[in-house]
Amino acid sequence: MRQSMLQAIVALATWVSGVTATAHGDTTQPDMMDVKQALGEKLSSNAEVILPSSKGFDNATGRWSLLEPPQVNIVAIPAIEDDVVQIVKFARDRNIPFLTYDGTHGASVTLGDMQHGLALSMRKMSSVKLSDDGKTATIGGGTMSKTVTDELWAAGKQTVTGTCECVSYMGPMLGGGHGWLQGHHGLVADQVESMNVVLADGQLKTLDRDSALMWAMKGAGHNFGVVTSVKVKIYDIQHHNWASETLVFSGDKVEAVYQAANDHLVRNGSQPTDVANWSYWMNQPSEDPNNPVIVFYILQEGVTAVDSAYSKPFHDIGPSSVTPAAGTYKDLAAWTQVSNDSPPCQKDGFAHPRFPIYLQSYNPAAQKEAFDLYASSAGPSSPFNTSIFMFEGYSTEGVRKVDSSSAAFAFRDDNILCSPLVSFKPPDDPTLISKAENLGQQLRNILLKGTGRDELHAYVNYAYGTETPEQLYGSEDWRQSKLQELKNQYDPNSEFSFFCPITRNPADECSS
Ligand SMILES: Cc1cc2nc3c(=O)[nH]c(=O)nc-3n(C[C@H](O)[C@H](O)[C@H](O)COP(=O)(O)OP(=O)(O)OC[C@H]3O[C@@H](n4cnc5c(N)ncnc54)[C@H](O)[C@@H]3O)c2cc1C
Ligand SMILES: *[C@@H]1O[C@H](CO)[C@@H](O)[C@H](O)[C@H]1NC(C)=O
Ligand SMILES: *[C@@H]1O[C@H](CO)[C@@H](O)[C@H](O)[C@H]1NC(C)=O
Ligand SMILES: *[C@@H]1O[C@H](CO)[C@@H](O)[C@H](O)[C@H]1NC(C)=O
Ligand SMILES: *[C@@H]1O[C@H](CO)[C@@H](O)[C@H](O)[C@H]1NC(C)=O
Repeated sequence: MRQSMLQAIVALATWVSGVTATAHGDTTQPDMMDVKQALGEKLSSNAEVILPSSKGFDNATGRWSLLEPPQVNIVAIPAIEDDVVQIVKFARDRNIPFLTYDGTHGASVTLGDMQHGLALSMRKMSSVKLSDDGKTATIGGGTMSKTVTDELWAAGKQTVTGTCECVSYMGPMLGGGHGWLQGHHGLVADQVESMNVVLADGQLKTLDRDSALMWAMKGAGHNFGVVTSVKVKIYDIQHHNWASETLVFSGDKVEAVYQAANDHLVRNGSQPTDVANWSYWMNQPSEDPNNPVIVFYILQEGVTAVDSAYSKPFHDIGPSSVTPAAGTYKDLAAWTQVSNDSPPCQKDGFAHPRFPIYLQSYNPAAQKEAFDLYASSAGPSSPFNTSIFMFEGYSTEGVRKVDSSSAAFAFRDDNILCSPLVSFKPPDDPTLISKAENLGQQLRNILLKGTGRDELHAYVNYAYGTETPEQLYGSEDWRQSKLQELKNQYDPNSEFSFFCPITRNPADECSS
């Protein structure tokens, strides 16, 4: 049993005795109403406290992935910074486990360790304010990525955000944060100049760039507090235009496609900064009724058509279709199927576990072995037929320019972020869960074997939840001990421990 689970149970025992006399909180229970009232009295007039019987409850607690989701008895929606302080203090004083709810696209199975908890929903704290000199913007703790992009764009500015429109700004940032502009400016977290955060003791702190805790917030941030706002660097828009080509290949081209990606795009970390390439393995019955296909995106900034220097090597392989598109930076999300209208932004009742691994370059033979397994296990007639295997090849120059020791994010030397996303429904079917986990782990292991290295590097924001702290936060001793020291200092009772915790009790791990 994980440590955090143990704490949840202790907390539960304390709380249950007073509150949930009946399972799932019969909200007519006076005690439950008392909790709502006692908390409500401490909050500003626009804040809300919601019980399971209330209309807004499902809306506030709905999640993208329903595999081992957190279990919530009460929702608190702060409207101002001091509300966050009051909620954290209240939850801590009453031993109620709590979890920050932002874009609700976090999917690690560790989240399921929260039982009978409080969801601290950041949705009312959405704001983007530009500074007078136009060099920074202050972003509220509950702002979605698309809101940041749109508000800055209207002012002729931009910054690095995650690519997906319906994911929060903070979620990606706390784990490092990958996005289209990282080749120019570095990770999302690299843009942060200062940060307001409510710590486990209920204190509101402003961190500047030199604070030790700021180091931890940039890559392991989920473990330390609730971020109420950040001040980040912003830039004049350099290129409004972007162009894309979407190429579809049949599976027999898999080795040729990834060899070409290595040679012409990734180039071991010297990928041109004006280009990104993504690919998905997915079922498109119109292209191939029996097998997944490779959907390969070449995205280039500052042009109205992708340069043939980038696309010709792929045309030469013989795609079954090529679809060019021209537009602006704001079209990238729709082109790559991560806009508000795209499938990953719908709460569709599926389980969506991922099994991430970073690579330096593609190993075409490993890609082939993985494709064959993927096709035989997640093809059109399998229960996993809406799964995708994602390969994200952002440019990396800006990420590498930042000193690796400057942040908890540990994997600046890697070039490609890969992950199977094994989707299925119903999300609590034990047979499907174990098949999905086996498939995800096997696919990841094939790619790991293909790297020739022993160490798995996994992006924490995509983590399945069984990865070790070394695999998520780097295996260097100094990284692990620095994280542990900061954890002991700022969150000694592990209040912030449901999202890929850096503190694991090895003895507990064995018996889980
Ligand atoms: C379709 C899709 C596309 C994605 N694209 C990208 C991408 O382009 N780049 C990238 O880097 N990642 C990407 N991700 C991964 C993303 O970073 C994680 O899923 C992230 O956890 C989502 O954050 P959220 O706020 O939406 O989810 P939530 O579940 O609300 O948050 C996840 C966790 O983050 C913490 N958290 C969130 N907000 C705060 C806050 N204000 N203060 C303190 N803690 C907080 C909490 O621990 C919470 O449990 C993508 C995910 C999906 C599903
Ligand atoms: C949930 O509430 C938000 C506003 O708070 C609204 O925009 C959204 O449409 C609601 N979603 C559902 C599924 O009701
Ligand atoms: C694909 O990504 C690789 C690795 O980052 C890069 O070298 C290559 O140029 C990219 N290809 C395209 C078409 O963007
Ligand atoms: C790729 O670059 C890394 C450093 O960033 C280096 O360690 C590795 O040897 C390089 N690999 C190849 C194949 O050149
Ligand atoms: C997945 O399977 C279901 C049920 O068999 C089917 O209705 C659906 O069309 C399939 N989807 C894809 C993308 O193959």
